[in-house]
Amino acid sequence: MEKSLKNYNTFKMDVKAKYIFELTDFAMFPKILETIKKEDLPFVVLGQGSDVLFTEDYNGVVIINKLKGMEFSEDLNYYFVKLQAGENFHVAIETCMKRGIYGLENLALIPGTAGGAPIQNFGAYGVSFSDFCRYVEVLDLKDNKLDRIWAKDCDFGYRTSVFKSNPEFKNRYIVTAVELKIPKEWTPRTSYNVFKNKEFKTPKEIFDFVCQIRQEKLPNPKDIPNAGSFFKNPYVSKDVFEKLIQKFPTMPYFETNDAGEVKIAAGWLIDKAGCKGLKMGNAGTYEKQALVLVNYGDATPQEILQVAKFVQNKVQETFGVLLEPEVRIYGSTTECQVNQ
Ligand code: EPU
Repeated sequence: MEKSLKNYNTFKMDVKAKYIFELTDFAMFPKILETIKKEDLPFVVLGQGSDVLFTEDYNGVVIINKLKGMEFSEDLNYYFVKLQAGENFHVAIETCMKRGIYGLENLALIPGTAGGAPIQNFGAYGVSFSDFCRYVEVLDLKDNKLDRIWAKDCDFGYRTSVFKSNPEFKNRYIVTAVELKIPKEWTPRTSYNVFKNKEFKTPKEIFDFVCQIRQEKLPNPKDIPNAGSFFKNPYVSKDVFEKLIQKFPTMPYFETNDAGEVKIAAGWLIDKAGCKGLKMGNAGTYEKQALVLVNYGDATPQEILQVAKFVQNKVQETFGVLLEPEVRIYGSTTECQVNQ
């Protein structure tokens, strides 16, 4: 039962998986788990497949999480919004806004599902999923029961969580839902540089502005297949940062973390290394945002990887900084890295 994954990943890689299950109901779990156990297969769970690159046929089970449902509750100070894993996050934000629940607008138009949100701890324009996460509901494959992982135990970091960093979690839990905790008192989050010198009076104004800049800067996967930012913004030590900023005074950088490191803009590094709008075969980097690798039409995984390696090498040569993928890269049975 081999099927193409082309319509299940936004890079539109035409590779096959041994089994693909569209999970629409909890009642389907026993059959899926039996398939995994019977043949001792690896598995990967996808939402919209907006943050993955399959480099070859996947010799395992791909579960497309389409569990749907939204529940709303509140106490004196907070709204609680429970989203089943297959809910589109942008649609959830719109639904919240219609109900007068505000705060998520900076995350508008992220092409992903609620179930994918905690894995990568996705974020945009100064807000991350972890800012609103109360708990992640999971199916525990070891104990065969639903469980909650509270936000404090999720080890959230920049584009990472315990679900990504801890191999035991990767193989043990399938995210089935998330619950958000949103303060009733709305605070606009406009410290990110794109909001500079602009005034926003309502959540809708922020929402519309974020939608507008995303549409201007980022390619719609429906038109040009891509997986958003391909690399993470790298953290460098203060020493390295000082040397770089002396040589490149216009280099954008972001807040420092506790370790005294500085986050620098990968898109800028790629751009200045001369790789913006690059085209190699059917793959390349987007002309308006160099951090996004794109499939210009029928690109193979090897063509995307070739661009990724080229970009990594150019940035390393020019700035001495190693870019690490943000996108999750899968080989035939396991997750892997781009090797230079
Ligand atoms: N820049 C350039 N040239 C480029 C691209 C960017 O000079 O080709 C400069 C920009 O002018 C800016 C800086 O680099 O000064 C940072 O660029 P931008 O604000 O566009 O954001 P980013 O750091 O490239 C991150 C996230 C995006 C998120 C945006 C907005 C990562 C890896 N990416 O991009 O998330 O939408 O900030 O908050 O953290 C994603 O994760 O898939 C994603 C799209």
